[in-house]
Amino acid sequence: MQPVEAPPTTPAAPPAVEDRAAGTALLPHFYTDPALLEAEQERIFERTWQLAGHASALPSPGSYITTRAGNQPVLVVRDKQHRLRAYRNVCRHRASRLLSGSGQCKGAIRCRYHGWTYRFDGSLIGVPEGLMFGERLDKSTLSLMPARVEELCGLVFVNLDEDAPALAELVGDLPRRLEPYRIPSLRTFRGGSGAQPANWKLVVENYVEGYHIPIAHPGLMRMLDYKYYDVDVHEHHVWFDAPLREKPSSNRLERLYAQLVEPMPGLGKEDQRVWRYAFIYPNTAIDLYPDQVNTWQLMPDGTARTYDIWAAYRPPTSGIRTRAVQWMNQRLNTLVLKEDIDLVDNVQQGLQTRGYACGPLSRREAAVAWFADRVRADLVPDARSR
Ligand code: FES
Ligand SMILES: [Fe+2]
Repeated sequence: MQPVEAPPTTPAAPPAVEDRAAGTALLPHFYTDPALLEAEQERIFERTWQLAGHASALPSPGSYITTRAGNQPVLVVRDKQHRLRAYRNVCRHRASRLLSGSGQCKGAIRCRYHGWTYRFDGSLIGVPEGLMFGERLDKSTLSLMPARVEELCGLVFVNLDEDAPALAELVGDLPRRLEPYRIPSLRTFRGGSGAQPANWKLVVENYVEGYHIPIAHPGLMRMLDYKYYDVDVHEHHVWFDAPLREKPSSNRLERLYAQLVEPMPGLGKEDQRVWRYAFIYPNTAIDLYPDQVNTWQLMPDGTARTYDIWAAYRPPTSGIRTRAVQWMNQRLNTLVLKEDIDLVDNVQQGLQTRGYACGPLSRREAAVAWFADRVRADLVPDARSR
């Protein structure tokens, strides 16, 4: 006989953005409430360091890349003194987006709509038919809107908050740990964008815990020595070590990868048999493999969808064996991503359940608790005192 299910209890009215004690997951409405999207945009994405790309895409004066801080378009350009500059990617005339993709400006940034032209220092220098504006045109008040920009181990980050602390100050020993991977010398060999059918915070939380590996990633479980999967939580970032097993996998591709992988220049023997991951709050993920480095920007696209931009980097001199290993890595991790997308999709759907309240978090989910605390602190500024 089927057990009789208790009728669902009437759900309490969803709390306004509300907090719980540290160490607990976010309440369900954090992942489903459309009203939070704007708050997240203002309080998280416009105040934190956002990955914009790799410094090699900005080799000389006039080289530029474009990116987004959440939903805000930003451009980064190298000026004539070889410094990086960042601006809101919008023309001060009538809001045309100034640049798209990446490339090279010839001497100045020129708007494609009416041709207003800006120096790399942001000042407006050219307005076609300027006399037609009469006295209404004061070029000195129409410079590009600046943003902060910083390079960290070859990766370029932007921040729309003029008062934000420098990224290098926030991430402590992360540059020292990234340094052996020589990211500044690596080159992009793959990249793209994708969508995941879940709130961006679920995608982050899934990235920052390994507790689901034994159940949901059979391939990873065969490859990684789960016992030694280690999470090191800092204030602004998290570091993961996932050593590869000594025992050869029963799967041919996994076995071959583990046999053939060699450390990139800069890495030692101790780095050859470990996959590492770094996550910088709120939405930058860096996968550090012995053979390549991948980066991920995770951005909200509505409450139940995440837009991701990813790139894969490798040494310019990767030989045929290493290229084969990189191809295997891509195959293996594409499967892991597929499994992860299915997991977060299921959680997003489960969160619709009336009366559901989050369960406890394991020590293996320490970074989920950390992320929840960070999000609460940003979205509910007085949360820490409750
Ligand atoms: S919108 Fe840029 S010149 Fe008019
Ligand atoms: Fe996963």
